[in-house]
Amino acid sequence: MRYFFLAFTLIVVLVISFFGFRGDKFSSTPLRMFPDMDDQDKVKTQTTSSFFADGLSARKPVAGTVPRGFEPDGSGPSFGNSTSYLDTGALDGTYGNGMPKALELNDENIAAFIRHGKERYNISCMPCHGESGNGKGTVAVVGNFSVADLGNFPQSEYPDGQMFETISKGKGMMSGYSYNIPVKDRWAIIAYVRALQTADKTADDQ
Ligand code: HEC
Repeated sequence: MRYFFLAFTLIVVLVISFFGFRGDKFSSTPLRMFPDMDDQDKVKTQTTSSFFADGLSARKPVAGTVPRGFEPDGSGPSFGNSTSYLDTGALDGTYGNGMPKALELNDENIAAFIRHGKERYNISCMPCHGESGNGKGTVAVVGNFSVADLGNFPQSEYPDGQMFETISKGKGMMSGYSYNIPVKDRWAIIAYVRALQTADKTADDQ
């Protein structure tokens, strides 16, 4: 009987402590059993810091490192402010078509450019869109969700600039890859996707 009362009292205390004060408001700091990461040492933007000798809390990137989103040669990024066709895919207020002049493509370097695009495509897009772009990559098959068939986006209806935007910002279920894929690589991928589409079309025509 004694144990029954003990257990009963314990359960009453537990139930009240768990549910009794739910929704109540307190003015004092709550007692937190598991603070997790509620409080962290950090510097807020635009504040001074007594830690660094120059008193600034914002730091420049460490020499020799490439911040996420920058080009490997250390240039960029555009922070979304650039209005060039190269960085946005937009031309004269609409989607542009064709490779940007800034890439300086010519008969000599175009083959290597497309080959580079193939390599990048196989790394970044193939898992979902499939090796031939038919939308049946491993992720699509295993994950059982529908991925766009890139053969259905011919140049005339789906300008290069729009594909650039899709790669950069994503579309529907597909997330954006502007942080993972440098600008020039995105254009190389587009060039390769066009090659895939041409191959696909030729196969259909036979
Ligand atoms: C994680 C899977 C995944 C990866 C990786 C991926 N995509 Fe997609 N992509 C999708 C899905 C899913 C859709 C369909 C989106 C929708 O309509 O909801 C899509 C749609 C598209 C479309 C059509 C968008 C439209 O306007 O309807 C294009 C073009 C495209 N992807 C290109 C690419 C390219 C190029 C890459 C590589 C840089 C890539 N995707 C990487 C999943 C992926």
